[in-house]
Amino acid sequence: MTSTTPKKVRVPDLALMKQRGDRIVMLTAYDATMARLLDRAGIDLLLVGDSLGNVVMGLDTTIPVTLDVMIHHTRAVARGANRALVVADMPFLTYQVSPEQATRNATRLFQEGGAAAVKLEGGRAVADTVRKLTAAGLPVMGHLGLTPQHVHRLGGMRQQARSESAAHELILDALALEDAGAFAIVLEAIPDTVAEAVTSQLKIPTIGVGAGSHCDGQVLVSYDVLGLFDTFAPPFAKQYAQLGQVIVRAAKDYANDVREGLFPKSTLSNQQTSDLAGRRVIPSLNDREFEELKGARVPVR
Ligand code: KIV
Repeated sequence: MTSTTPKKVRVPDLALMKQRGDRIVMLTAYDATMARLLDRAGIDLLLVGDSLGNVVMGLDTTIPVTLDVMIHHTRAVARGANRALVVADMPFLTYQVSPEQATRNATRLFQEGGAAAVKLEGGRAVADTVRKLTAAGLPVMGHLGLTPQHVHRLGGMRQQARSESAAHELILDALALEDAGAFAIVLEAIPDTVAEAVTSQLKIPTIGVGAGSHCDGQVLVSYDVLGLFDTFAPPFAKQYAQLGQVIVRAAKDYANDVREGLFPKSTLSNQQTSDLAGRRVIPSLNDREFEELKGARVPVR
């Protein structure tokens, strides 16, 4: 499968992509407009990441992100996505208590949010939960290495699996997730060599973020890729645009035009001139003036 394939991406396609050596492309999305644009660009998977806690909500960690917030954003992304597979993060402590709790909460992301898969953090500790969810027909993506929901236990957002024993533990976690039915695993912030070893031992694809080039696919936070988030830039992220600067420039130009009286051009806004049905609501206009202003009408939101 290539990025130009219009066919909708489905969960089983990912294993086929790994077999064929087609690299999987994933980005985060948090709203319908961005989802529509990224989908149009041919991104295979849209992750409604709980990173929205950082880049959308302005939080320091992902821990306060709630299930209701994730459902809200997943619903928006699912509306915008046409081809891409929509994966929703299960937020902190919505799946760790018991497999039953996880099933109840994951079900809401599918039924209310319109997700096609969920992602959860952890290895052998959540393997039973992954088994239960997949058996119930809810596809699960795993997430190993730097798992931001464990930031306090890990002592910060730092690279994981640096020692031989930690790398071995991570490989055992990956094998347990595959055995439990996970259809792919995100590997975050681990040495390239460890990601390569995991990728070669698994049948399911690995999707790396700060894990080198040997993974079967890559994921990044879209706000980092687009240059929208300037509070913190992870060293492994690449900026493909500086949209933050474009937005500041455009907003300054708009502010200037308003302050200088350059926008809007007419003293009558178009909406004042004619309503949605095109009726004349300014009786003083003659026919020609009314038709001219109607023709210039902008879409009313
Ligand atoms: O929440 C998120 O955006 C993520 C990606 C970094 C993988 O989990």
